[in-house]
Amino acid sequence: MYKAFFHLARNPFDLTPDPRCFVPSGRHNEVLATLYYGVRRHKGFVVVTGEIGTGKTLLLRCLLDLFKGSRDIAYAYVFNGLLSPTEFLQYVLSDFGLSASNKSKWELLLDLGKFLASRGSMGQTTVLIVDEAHHLSEDLLEEIRLLSNLETTNDKLLQIVLVGQPELDEKLDSVKLRQLKQRIALRTHLSPLNAAETAEYISERLRIAGADSNRAAIFPSETVAAVFHHAQGVPRLINTICENALINAYARQSSSVAPDMVDDVAKEFRLDATNGRGNERTLTRASWMRSGL
Ligand SMILES: Nc1ncnc2c1ncn2[C@@H]1O[C@H](COP(=O)(O)OP(=O)(O)OP(=O)(O)O)[C@@H](O)[C@H]1O
Ligand SMILES: [Mg+2]
Repeated sequence: MYKAFFHLARNPFDLTPDPRCFVPSGRHNEVLATLYYGVRRHKGFVVVTGEIGTGKTLLLRCLLDLFKGSRDIAYAYVFNGLLSPTEFLQYVLSDFGLSASNKSKWELLLDLGKFLASRGSMGQTTVLIVDEAHHLSEDLLEEIRLLSNLETTNDKLLQIVLVGQPELDEKLDSVKLRQLKQRIALRTHLSPLNAAETAEYISERLRIAGADSNRAAIFPSETVAAVFHHAQGVPRLINTICENALINAYARQSSSVAPDMVDDVAKEFRLDATNGRGNERTLTRASWMRSGL
């Protein structure tokens, strides 16, 4: 409803992790490069952790987009960690296009092994991607480790990407999973955006939504500072705040979002009470403004 008012073609702060809205911040780019390199170079296990709402699922979708043009890559994408080991295997096989119904666990493993060996012999890459991996039980993580044993003398047949919230790091530190931990070839963390990246993020999302020279007018720098203060650089919170602040501005028929509109949204969403977890960096609005961003 506010799109026409702000001359936008689409909602700039939609919460769907849509690769078309990807803003390649330094950190996001680094993590995406690590994922791509890990899979392409057959590194085996790659683990990415990040706080809630920092963009992990979006990065996975960007990775899958990169794979789309490559005929030599097949992937299974699991986003529900609350499965039993057999259900998990059934899901993975189905996603690879293999028949999985009414098969015992050993039959599933046998079929998967054959599939991987055949792809490996043709020099093809096969990837298992698990989002929300912090939900996986220790037993399932151990099963996944066993899948990584499917290898030839000189190559890993299955590339495994585990992505999840910081609890995943804690799980991987457990004594029971120390064999898995030792197998991790690449491990990286997605941090929230810093102040400059937050400003760039807001501006870019507005640009992607069709805003042009009016971007700085819609979100002036003191408003961006307020958003950063409340969201602490977490993209999902930035989106929620900006979207609701835009609605407030529209309701007041104001072509610019004022800092107090952002404060009101943060209060309504009780953000200051909840966004502290793991985001130790707190920057007051005054110091942010002094930094000249
Ligand atoms: N680099 C980015 N460019 C554009 N949008 C982003 C970026 N990073 C995150 N977002 C946006 O932030 C929101 C949250 O992203 P996403 O769902 O990927 O987070 P997540 O880390 O997977 O969260 P959760 O821990 O809850 O699973 C989405 O709307 C996504 O589009
Ligand atoms: Mg996610």
